[in-house]
Amino acid sequence: MANDLSGRVALVTGGASGIGLATATLLAQRGAKVAITDIDEAKLAQATADLRIRADNRAVADVRRAVESVEKELGRLDILVNNAGISGRSLPLDQIDEAGFDAMFETHVKGAFFITQVAVAGMKRRKFGRIINISSHFSMIGSASASHYVGAKTALNGFTRGWALEFGPFGITVNTVAPGLVETAMTLASIGSHEIRRRGESYPIGRNPTPNDIAESIAWLCSDGAAAVTGQAISPNGGIAIVGI
Ligand SMILES: NC(=O)c1ccc[n+]([C@@H]2O[C@H](COP(=O)([O-])OP(=O)(O)OC[C@H]3O[C@@H](n4cnc5c(N)ncnc54)[C@H](O)[C@@H]3O)[C@@H](O)[C@H]2O)c1
Repeated sequence: MANDLSGRVALVTGGASGIGLATATLLAQRGAKVAITDIDEAKLAQATADLRIRADNRAVADVRRAVESVEKELGRLDILVNNAGISGRSLPLDQIDEAGFDAMFETHVKGAFFITQVAVAGMKRRKFGRIINISSHFSMIGSASASHYVGAKTALNGFTRGWALEFGPFGITVNTVAPGLVETAMTLASIGSHEIRRRGESYPIGRNPTPNDIAESIAWLCSDGAAAVTGQAISPNGGIAIVGI
């Protein structure tokens, strides 16, 4: 079966909640062994995974230890989903302070950069890998607020472009998944359920994408059926952002 992930080992950062948890669950259903990292210890304790690692994406030592644990405990690492993220609170430029800017870029950009740097070494040796960077549809269409979030997510798209060219010769594909607005702990905390659903009603499909909708795109990109897809963005956004075609 083209979508079968039996024999693969995956690591999903921020995998204890929302899109990451749905992804970890679906990859496991497709046959992969799955490790997750998170900083939320309560959610981590509740999540089902082959390996649960408390690791902060902002700390290079943590992400290095996380990859080493996966390779030691689960034998290899084939699939990396750079998913850990924090809310792009709707702030105008003059209200984004240094701490908020640093948190945004360290969590999304620095974290994805350094965990990929460690993870890709084994993928190159084994001549196989799948790297998925979780961006946002705002990286494609912009947003009138939260420019620190838009900038950080756009940087991830840049990594996708560069790494696809750098790692293609080693059998490693690198792609972006750029979700539309999904109801998760992050968006419930920032804009609330009513506003999420109100916006979802204006989506061409008449609703918000779900965490599982996003996980399905990610799982396909991890599969053998997507072997020729690299350096691309797939945006499960219900049709609210139709660009780049
Ligand atoms: N929900 C949306 O509408 C939406 C839209 C586009 C993109 N995204 C992206 O999807 C990803 C997942 O978000 P979600 O909506 O599932 O939110 P979520 O809050 O449900 O999950 C995010 C997880 O990341 C973890 N995390 C945060 N900082 C971390 C760190 N420094 N180290 C390790 N783990 C950390 C959190 O504890 C949480 O478990 C994020 O990158 C987010 O930007 C979400």
